Amino acid sequence: MSPAAVLAAVGAALPPHTVSNDDLAARMDTSDEWIRSRTGITSRHVAGIDQSTADLAVQAAAQALNGSYSPGVDALVVATTTPDRCCPATAPTVAARLGLTGVPAHDVAAGCTGFLYALATAAGLIAAGTAETVLVIGADRLASLPRPDDRTTVPLFGDGAGAVLLRRGDADEAGALAPIVLGSDGTCADLIAAACPGTLHMGGADVFRHAVERMSTASRRAATAAGWDLAAVDRLVPHQANSRITSFVARRLGVPDARRLSNVAHVGNTGGASIPLLLTQAHADGRLQSGHRTLLTAFGAGLPWGAVALTWPDLTHPTEGAGHDR
Ligand code: COA
Repeated sequence: MSPAAVLAAVGAALPPHTVSNDDLAARMDTSDEWIRSRTGITSRHVAGIDQSTADLAVQAAAQALNGSYSPGVDALVVATTTPDRCCPATAPTVAARLGLTGVPAHDVAAGCTGFLYALATAAGLIAAGTAETVLVIGADRLASLPRPDDRTTVPLFGDGAGAVLLRRGDADEAGALAPIVLGSDGTCADLIAAACPGTLHMGGADVFRHAVERMSTASRRAATAAGWDLAAVDRLVPHQANSRITSFVARRLGVPDARRLSNVAHVGNTGGASIPLLLTQAHADGRLQSGHRTLLTAFGAGLPWGAVALTWPDLTHPTEGAGHDR
């Protein structure tokens, strides 16, 4: 049996500057009431021009490594839609700044589903024997993508980063990723798109429908792949596109709303950072606890989607096999 990828640590970073709905209403034709009722978002963190995607990624990764008992990192994957430069990729720079020069490091581009694609990549590196520990980072500066006066997109997005450390382990231990479900539909690539370089355009209503449908279907398949009944899911961790989308997904899956984790009110849609950022916050404030059957799902520009199940591990104590000799 090939080794499993096991979650061993989490970390996150948010730029300090926040922009409220009222701040937006002061500079464009919108209102707090409109944004909150359509999206559940009240404010978002926005990076200054001096804070790059790599800066956010390094900060989130450093926090994950601080809380980890693993002696090293063998590989690094960054999921981002907003790399600091078109070329080269962000990951080698992030690795070097973390003191990991020499490890394999590359970016994954899969929109807001990027983190789940990066998890799959990392799990593959572990299964292939290329790495025993992989740092997976989702980092995005989506707030800078829309045209600054576009009221249909500006309110939705924020900046941030989240990171998890995966280590080689066994499929039956807490934290092991069940088979990861992924998919994409490039025939709808124009529904959320930004030219290179250029500003973001989005067909909001169509995106909404696809997001609900794809995340629900992927979640069902991921639960089945894990051998779970959906009624057994303790925590649903959907990509934080907006709260109407995620509550529709929960309803479709029959997951009670109290089990649907959310932080969108204060961070907006942070793209690849969305899920690991939420995992880190929910772990820190106790919404996610050891033993919780946790289902992650995402959807994004492209249109890619994905889902994966894991039982939340005890991240407060070193686990057997958490370390390894390099
Ligand atoms: N403030 C005030 N009015 C706004 C507005 C804003 N920020 N943005 C749009 N409007 C207006 C529209 O211009 C439209 O006016 P009109 O009827 O006079 O033409 C009206 O509000 C309704 O627009 P509509 O786009 O139909 O609203 P909606 O109920 O579909 O909500 C979204 C818009 C974007 C919130 C919704 O479509 C959505 O959540 N889509 C998914 C977006 C997403 O999550 N993308 C990322 C996926 S990873």
